[in-house]
Amino acid sequence: MKPTFYVTTPIYYVNDVPHIGHAYTTVAADVLARYKRLMGFDVYFLTGSDEHGQKVEKAAITAGETPLELADRVVKRFQALWERLGISNNDFIRTTQERHKKGVSRIFSDILDRGDIYLGEYEDWYCTPCETFWTETQLIDGRCPDCNRPVEKLKEESYFFRMSKYQEQLLAHIEANPDFIQPKSKRNEIISFVKEGLRDLSVSRTTFSWGIPVPGNDRHIIYVWFDALTNYITALGYPDESGNFGRYWPVDIQLIGKDILRFHAVYWPTFLMAAGLPLPKKVFAHGWWTVEGQKMSKSLQNVVEPNMLIDRYGVDVVRYFLLREVPFGLDGDFSHSALVNRLNSDLANDIGNLLSRSTAMAVKYFDGILPDPDVLAEIDLALKNKTEEMVTAVDKFIDELAFSKALQAIWDVISAGNKYIDDTAPWTLTKDPAQKNRLATVMYCMLESQRIVHCILSPFLPTTAGKALASLGWHEEITKDALTWGGLKAGRTIVKAEALFPRFEEKE
Ligand code: MSP
Repeated sequence: MKPTFYVTTPIYYVNDVPHIGHAYTTVAADVLARYKRLMGFDVYFLTGSDEHGQKVEKAAITAGETPLELADRVVKRFQALWERLGISNNDFIRTTQERHKKGVSRIFSDILDRGDIYLGEYEDWYCTPCETFWTETQLIDGRCPDCNRPVEKLKEESYFFRMSKYQEQLLAHIEANPDFIQPKSKRNEIISFVKEGLRDLSVSRTTFSWGIPVPGNDRHIIYVWFDALTNYITALGYPDESGNFGRYWPVDIQLIGKDILRFHAVYWPTFLMAAGLPLPKKVFAHGWWTVEGQKMSKSLQNVVEPNMLIDRYGVDVVRYFLLREVPFGLDGDFSHSALVNRLNSDLANDIGNLLSRSTAMAVKYFDGILPDPDVLAEIDLALKNKTEEMVTAVDKFIDELAFSKALQAIWDVISAGNKYIDDTAPWTLTKDPAQKNRLATVMYCMLESQRIVHCILSPFLPTTAGKALASLGWHEEITKDALTWGGLKAGRTIVKAEALFPRFEEKE
């Protein structure tokens, strides 16, 4: 049986349209999913939409729609974008689906029955846009500490989750599992937060109606984060153990942005503890993108729309840029000039030129039929070793979610390939018939190294990889074995590759 691998993205709010922030997490998760499939894992990759709560209710009122009409309309934009971006999710969960509502009611009732959810009364400062209650001391100048908007005093009957009870158990878990929360800096933040003390958490609302009612008391709507977080198991068919839930839970990696770490590293694990379910193996919080140095926001009208980027630069260029430009886990800045730089230098120049010049030579010197290599000389072995070492390094980097380092390691081999051609100078070898075998070896090595490069790049650049590999005469399925030197056999037809990535010339 194949080992399983379950990866999730946050489920996105439908009161906003997709932007590069959403695309970022989803592309990263897609690369992981594709890479693990390639390595032989039985992968389940989940994404979806968060459709309940007051924010969505308010947005619907503003738009003159019902919340469900709004959700139906906006969710299509997410789904269409994921398709364009080549996202290979196995499932898409919407929190308005029956399967989800059933699962949420079930886990809520379970925790209620176990006594860790109780009815009480609540009074505190509430920030509607953030759907968060704050204590007096948390407010900054009387406003929401997260978004700086005004808050209102709310008193309501509410169900509470006994989160305080799980403080020590959660700390012990975080300490015993150094990889549970990553990156490390974020892990430390969560440890200090938990050490300050966990309060019981209000998990129901009576102030609006768009959501899942509390089982047995439908004056109360289940708190939107309780509802949303549960998607990671309801999509697997929780509580039915006989299908995907039994097979894929606990999840291997939950990718999220740093702003929602507390929900995923404190609330969610304690809910699971209370329900007697295993905890996620790893939660990784990535950084935020600013745009040309500024916070991305509707009011600044600088929201970067992924569809526009794909139209202008191409899908693989966008995927590449997002994961190459900024180390995963740190904040980064988006700018068109940075993207164009990456496109023209890394993609058009380095990898694109390497493929077109080498396939052109194979066509010219060997009529496009891949020759058998002779015994490898030192310079050939160096390229072979570098390629093989890269495969090992990439595996380690992907495990650490260090996508930019993985790409860097691949690009080192691409640079080595370009240098290899300059150093071996096939155009000189071809002039001397006595060097025919030497020329054959050089052809083989430069093409085989690139075949491995494009195979291992396929999770990052799925569209390009297909084209590149076809021109290298490789039409097989890409598996782990494809990453071994020697896969390309003599006799294969090499076709001169078109420019993989046309240069982008900035118009004035
Ligand atoms: N619905 C909740 C998540 C529930 S998960 C059980 C939510 N949705 S969201 O649509 O507002 O945001 C989803 C993700 O987008 C978050 O991980 C957030 O970090 C990410 N981003 C939003 N803006 C971003 C940037 N500017 N840069 C990078 N990621 C950003 O939160």
